[in-house]
Amino acid sequence: MTSKSEQDRVLIFDTTLRDGEQSPGATMTHDEKVEIASMLDDMGVDVIEAGFPIASQGDFEAVRDIAKQARNSVICGLSRANIGDIDRSWDAIRHAPQPRIHTFVGTSPLHRAIPNLNQDELANLIHETVTHARNLSDNVQWSPMDATRTELDYLCRVVEIAIKAGATTLNIPDTVGYTAPRESADLIRMLIEKVPGADEVVFSTHCHNDLGMATANSLAAVEAGARQIECTINGLGERAGNTALEEVVMALKVRNDIMPYRTDVDTTKIMAISRRVATVSGFSVQYNKAVVGKNAFAHESGIHQDGMLKNAETFEIMRPEDVGLTETNIVMGKHSGRAALRSKLKNFGFELADNQLNDMFVRFKALADRKKEIYDDDLLALMRDSETDAVHDRIQVKSLRVVCGTDGPQTAELVMLVDGEEKSCTATGDGPVDATFNAIKELFSHEARLQLYQVHAVTEGTDAQATVSVRMEEDGRIVTGQSADTDTVVASAKAYVNALNKLLVRRANSAPNDDVKTVSFRDSV
Ligand code: KIV
Ligand code: ZN
Repeated sequence: MTSKSEQDRVLIFDTTLRDGEQSPGATMTHDEKVEIASMLDDMGVDVIEAGFPIASQGDFEAVRDIAKQARNSVICGLSRANIGDIDRSWDAIRHAPQPRIHTFVGTSPLHRAIPNLNQDELANLIHETVTHARNLSDNVQWSPMDATRTELDYLCRVVEIAIKAGATTLNIPDTVGYTAPRESADLIRMLIEKVPGADEVVFSTHCHNDLGMATANSLAAVEAGARQIECTINGLGERAGNTALEEVVMALKVRNDIMPYRTDVDTTKIMAISRRVATVSGFSVQYNKAVVGKNAFAHESGIHQDGMLKNAETFEIMRPEDVGLTETNIVMGKHSGRAALRSKLKNFGFELADNQLNDMFVRFKALADRKKEIYDDDLLALMRDSETDAVHDRIQVKSLRVVCGTDGPQTAELVMLVDGEEKSCTATGDGPVDATFNAIKELFSHEARLQLYQVHAVTEGTDAQATVSVRMEEDGRIVTGQSADTDTVVASAKAYVNALNKLLVRRANSAPNDDVKTVSFRDSV
């Protein structure tokens, strides 16, 4: 018999690097994936779905390297219902201390029609593929894709087959975000009650947010007996995204009185990973997003502020520090010293060597000269910028002067160092950023295609720093460059050049098309 604390424990399965990355445009680089996986492992996530190894050489290598560095988390690789996929997945994850094979197939009438398999043929395929996975690993997860639109009797039948073939986790996906809380609970309860062997396995819920009910549906499934929630940081994912990790974890913590379940997630690490995922995916978090939005803990209205000053509990159900949000007030200014900077960065989790601190201090002072108030977010942007702005980069922006305004053409005069040689030019364009990018192209000719250009103000005010993300693609290689500056055009130039430098490294290290997904997750057989 399982103890009470085991019954109350809900496993957190993060799929930011697989289902989240599947979101068009959210592609992350190999190093970014490895970094995010390490942060997930650190924060106590139970299972990390690291990718879909058969999809491309790049996906395979990322999953393999995440598996090699795993500490406490189980590392999972996704595979369709075929032997080649499962073998490829196993090849990538077998390096992990705790590997898990995840295999899935579409079971609803709509999905069965794609490979044109009848119910019996699909049932045989499920038996064959789950058996194969179980022969490789004793930790096997199986998912009937589009479960919430599958006939109930057929769903029970295939879940039973998967359990008999050796699946240890049964994940029930609401692939198109169609279900609602009561139905989500009823489905899990029905499977647990009716399917022989259900008490020997873990039931899992995997919800999409098309109708804005992913968090509610996941929690309802837990109340009905599911003990694993699949989710992503910031709710990243295709269309309206997946269940947001931060929402389910905080809901279980804050409303433990009515949902007495626990997770092992260290919630104080939520903000840091949320910001990092937003940066590397290029998907910024909406201001009023639950738990991690910029406004989630901001109290603008006079009544609220008054109440907050008297007693924070009047309008706050969670403390900002519970999700890792430290004081949002002005943190530093022109007169702050090195020790204050070191201690502030330490709070964010950055332990800097003396030379790195010196470099950061110079950048901090330069920013403080241009911007009166330096907030936490400014320091984080500066820190990220210093990580991307390497002195050994082949291409560097030396100076930029832009003429813009109502009477065009807008003009950019740019000086860059290219492989140590100083080059300059003047280019025009449709706006200052276009003129600047044209100047960069003139000084360093390339065929890479701009896929995304995104600007965000780090804090409020007209002197706020802007963080710019630039994503480029060349022969299937996708890279994202970032930079921050109080001058948006300078940040744009530096972000573009940062992306180009990453591309040069990728050109040197990988064959073209490594990032092109050669198979689609939609054909699940
Ligand atoms: O949404 C879905 O059905 C999936 C499966 C692969 C689990 O992501
Ligand atoms: Zn999904």
